[in-house]
Amino acid sequence: MFSLAGKVAVVTGAASGIGLGTARRLAAAGATVVLSDINDAAGDAAAMGADFVAADVSDEDSVAALVDEVAAAHGRLDVMVNNAGVLFTAKGIEADAVEDTRRMMEVNLFGVLHGIKHATRVMTGGGSIISTASMAGIVGFPGLSAYGASKWGVVGITRYAAVELGPRGIRVNCVCPTGVQTPLAGEGDHWAFRVQVLAQQHRSTMATVDDVAAAVHFLASDDASMINGHALCVDGGLGAGMSVSLIEAALGESIHDGGAFIE
Ligand SMILES: NC(=O)c1ccc[n+]([C@@H]2O[C@H](COP(=O)([O-])OP(=O)(O)OC[C@H]3O[C@@H](n4cnc5c(N)ncnc54)[C@H](O)[C@@H]3O)[C@@H](O)[C@H]2O)c1
Repeated sequence: MFSLAGKVAVVTGAASGIGLGTARRLAAAGATVVLSDINDAAGDAAAMGADFVAADVSDEDSVAALVDEVAAAHGRLDVMVNNAGVLFTAKGIEADAVEDTRRMMEVNLFGVLHGIKHATRVMTGGGSIISTASMAGIVGFPGLSAYGASKWGVVGITRYAAVELGPRGIRVNCVCPTGVQTPLAGEGDHWAFRVQVLAQQHRSTMATVDDVAAAVHFLASDDASMINGHALCVDGGLGAGMSVSLIEAALGESIHDGGAFIE
């Protein structure tokens, strides 16, 4: 169950955070894993018996070369995890510099597009493509418009790719994490992360790398063979509706007396 034995997997953005945790998880499930990043991760790759190939996902030629190198070395590609991403401005539409927005689009959205386009080229026997979107691509967070738009695009291209590539036996899904404790999120003390924790239903801590890696592992496996074009929210119920903790924080008063909600 959930075995990835015999599968070859690439994980981008694998030098840190969710990508590194996902690479470890896929390797532990039996996959032959290739870590890729703009930063060096050769040491981490060697430690898990994996390879490392440097690539900049915002550069189509770089992603094409990554895929070609993996196909030449391993003869196949079964799982492509488009995870690399950046978040470096959260000022909002009125204040974000266009150049910052453009760079997030290039890495977060075009990076995913390049990954899907070129992985598909060598996935001759079908495959599974999983991209890391975000809850910011499912609901709006004030200030995160540029990042959120790039992630909304990831959810969109996931659905379109599923529609176009389904006949070739290639499933295309994405995961949408709430705030995850990684270098991208810092200490998680920015309000954008604190509010996500408050908006979760059952857990008052940020998500972990392993929470997200488990979802990617499932989508990569043949056990998910009926799941295609899906945006899997790894969000503690944030997207389900208003949480008690968020309402109480906003109102500054309790809304539950221990037995029932206060009318
Ligand atoms: N941490 C969160 O709260 C959170 C929440 C939702 C979604 N995400 C998404 O998860 C993904 C992973 O983020 P993380 O939190 O692990 O961050 P992270 O900063 O720990 O890791 C991101 C990795 O991507 C790499 N990278 C950046 N630009 C690249 C490029 N042009 N080409 C190749 N690699 C590049 C970085 O070197 C780094 O190793 C991102 O797509 C991010 O948007 C993160």
